[in-house]
Parts: sequence; structure tokens; C-alpha cells
Amino acid sequence: MSQTVPIRLYVNGDRHDIEIEPRRTLADALRDDCGLTGTHLGCEHGVCGACTILVDGKPVRACLMFAVQAEGTSIRTVEGLAPDDQQLHPVQRAFWEKHGLQCGFCTPGFLMLVAGQLEEKPDTDEEEMRDVLSSNLCRCTGYQNILKASMAAAEEMSG
Ligand code: FES
Ligand code: FES
Repeated sequence: MSQTVPIRLYVNGDRHDIEIEPRRTLADALRDDCGLTGTHLGCEHGVCGACTILVDGKPVRACLMFAVQAEGTSIRTVEGLAPDDQQLHPVQRAFWEKHGLQCGFCTPGFLMLVAGQLEEKPDTDEEEMRDVLSSNLCRCTGYQNILKASMAAAEEMSG
């Protein structure tokens, strides 16, 4: 018999009180228990980065973290990236304008990865951005436009 524990998650500023088995990942909790399916699952073992979210402002692979480990943290997912319904986050806008997505499956992970990087270091240069982007996989291999979009966002965010 599976045993669940009550936990409280704060995601995009909203409180979610859920009951979950301790073995379940944060990615599963977000998708299945919080209804936030924008966080995608690819490999489910820490390789592809599709599940990247921000935990206390840092990019984290949600498939590698247990949901119970996220109690007391501040979580951001792609659903919470735009400041409101009328505006996109600069990284979202840049991906749109620079054609930084093809099938879009990897896109939420890239958006959160780049947003986390640029919110911490808006003046990230191209060499460092290449290094950051190398942690996530786009199987359509559209990396040039992802890089262009990320650098356009860096330009805007570094003002
Ligand atoms: S699904 Fe988490 S790294 Fe691939
Ligand atoms: S846009 Fe298709 S996997 Fe990245």
C-alpha cells in the first residue's frame, strides 16, 4: 500500500496543499497534483533539461528532485514566467521573435533555464550562454536560434 504525506508547495505565488507519496518527483507533483503541465518530461533522468524550473531562483531539473524536498521553497514554472496576461517575459518574447522554437517540446525548459540565468546575470556573454544552453537538449537541433533569442533577451534585460 502506498503512503502519502501532506506537503505545501508555493508555485508561481500560489499555494498548493497536496498529498503525495515521498517517492514522487517534483515534476510529477507539478503536472499531476498542481495541474501545471507546462513543465515537460523527456528523459526523466536528468539529461534533457525539458523539466527545468526555478527553485528559489535557480534552475533545477524537476525530474531529479522529490516533491517533498521542495517544501518551503519558492517555485517558478513556465506558467508563471510572464508578468501578467498582457505581457510576455523578455525571454519568451525573444524566443518568439527570433524563432527560438520548433516543435516546442523543449521550450519551457529552455525558457526557465535562460530566465534563471539572465535574472541572476543579465550581462551574460555569448560564450557563457553557449555553456548554459549546453545543459538542455533540443532534438530538433535548433540551437542557433535558441542562442540568438537568448542573447537578444540578454541585451534587453541588461538594459
Ligand atoms: S525530464 Fe528532467 S532532465 Fe529530462
Ligand atoms: S523545439 Fe523541438 S525539441 Fe526543442
